[in-house]
Amino acid sequence: MQLSIINGPNLNLLGTREPEIYGKESFESFLENLKVQFPEILFDYFQSNEEGALISKLQNSGNSAGIILNAAAYTHTSIAIADTVAAIQQPVIEVHISNIFSREAFRQHSYISANAKGVICGLGLQGYILAVQYFVGKQ
Ligand code: DQA
Repeated sequence: MQLSIINGPNLNLLGTREPEIYGKESFESFLENLKVQFPEILFDYFQSNEEGALISKLQNSGNSAGIILNAAAYTHTSIAIADTVAAIQQPVIEVHISNIFSREAFRQHSYISANAKGVICGLGLQGYILAVQYFVGKQ
């Protein structure tokens, strides 16, 4: 089974970006461990700081059985990404490393959640593991 993990802006800085909120591990290092943990899964990983690139990647993830999406700040601003999540066939799990509901008011609304299969937030990078486990369990 192939799964796409799509990360939005500034998530390429994980490990050094506000480590007290997002932790000290880079996503690349986390992904290596994820591949070891789930050898049967083909991970299609994509990160972009650009809204249009994220939309194109969502539209072109037809080979994946599911998508794990952390749209980062675009979660709170992008009707365009929300429309894409609604338009595509694959189930999307929305993941946030931090608990967006315990943070600033502007982070407490997600345009994506209404069309996501589920939402995981506040559990650090473990949220991505739980999302993978969901898709593995569905097989
Ligand atoms: C985030 C939360 C967003 O509010 C923020 O803009 C991010 C990361 C998270 O994973 O906790 O960039 O999506």
